[in-house]
Amino acid sequence: MSYAEHNCRFSVAPMLDWTDRHYRYFARLLSRHTLLYTEMVTTGAIIHGKGDYLGYNQEEHPVALQLGGSNPQELALCARRAEELGYDEVNLNVGCPSDRVQNGRFGACLMAEPELVAESVDAMRQVVDIPVTVKTRIGIDDQDSYEFLTRFIELVSAAGCEQFTIHARKAWLSGLSPKENREIPPLDYERAYQLKRDFPHLTLALNGGIKTLEECQTHLKQMDGVMVGREAYQNPYLLAAVDREIYGCDTPVADRREVVEKMVPYVERHLARGGRVNHVTRHMLGLFNGLPGARTWRRTLSERAHLADATPALLLEAMAQVGEPLEQAQV
Ligand SMILES: Cc1cc2nc3c(=O)[nH]c(=O)nc-3n(C[C@H](O)[C@H](O)[C@H](O)COP(=O)(O)O)c2cc1C
Repeated sequence: MSYAEHNCRFSVAPMLDWTDRHYRYFARLLSRHTLLYTEMVTTGAIIHGKGDYLGYNQEEHPVALQLGGSNPQELALCARRAEELGYDEVNLNVGCPSDRVQNGRFGACLMAEPELVAESVDAMRQVVDIPVTVKTRIGIDDQDSYEFLTRFIELVSAAGCEQFTIHARKAWLSGLSPKENREIPPLDYERAYQLKRDFPHLTLALNGGIKTLEECQTHLKQMDGVMVGREAYQNPYLLAAVDREIYGCDTPVADRREVVEKMVPYVERHLARGGRVNHVTRHMLGLFNGLPGARTWRRTLSERAHLADATPALLLEAMAQVGEPLEQAQV
């Protein structure tokens, strides 16, 4: 299995406001092999912004930067910056349907401009050695035929993109919010499977609506990889079984208590840099999902982690209140 194939086998999707560096640090404690995507970062923010949009923790590897943009030269500049910083992959967002993104002429509306996406991929590949990948929908608006999708894949792969993630539903560019665009257009896994049959030489991962590792196993019979979004965020302990179930590694499964304890020094470091406890703990609210103590854990953190006097010890206090279920906390 090549490095790219190994990496794409299981990934956590790029999610704005969710998969920030704190979530990724936390997720990495649960799974060694899962590929983690950043939130989408626009080329404009990287080139003109004042914030630290590309900072990450070394522990996060393998980690892929997702870019939003459509100017080939700017994308190339940002891809090079990503490679210099040590990112393992650069991914171009051709899936986000938000108005804000469309006005910038990138995201899902780029499906209608495969030549521009191809040119962008080519420009990025000219300047980096790390994989340049694309995350796309299966169609937009009335352009939702299989031929429309295959033309897109043909043109973009001819420019050198060997790896795609297929979010297996189309996007409506007007009329639906981004959230509705993740729920209303029906999922069409068969279309993604067909793509893999027609482009066997490409590395293709499937995304959309996947909730369990059993479902992942089913998809992996047809596809090279699976990308999980909301479930990996809302029920993060799902990740604890990935190394064993998906990668076949016999490394011990992290238990929730250990993970919480390891997050305490991380939160301490974040506070020392001027951050707040809830910047980190907001990503951990779902850790006990499915166990009887889940509500107490969630409530303690949501009610207290944002307070100015909150300390990292709040995590241990919240966990102590969870009590008994920790004993059952194995996958
Ligand atoms: C809060 C949130 C933010 C998202 N932000 C991005 C993003 O920045 N880039 C992107 O390509 N997709 C984004 N998505 C879409 C996800 O990457 C994924 O394609 C979608 O949620 C479907 O996968 P799922 O059903 O496993 O959640 C976002 C989804 C959510 C829920």
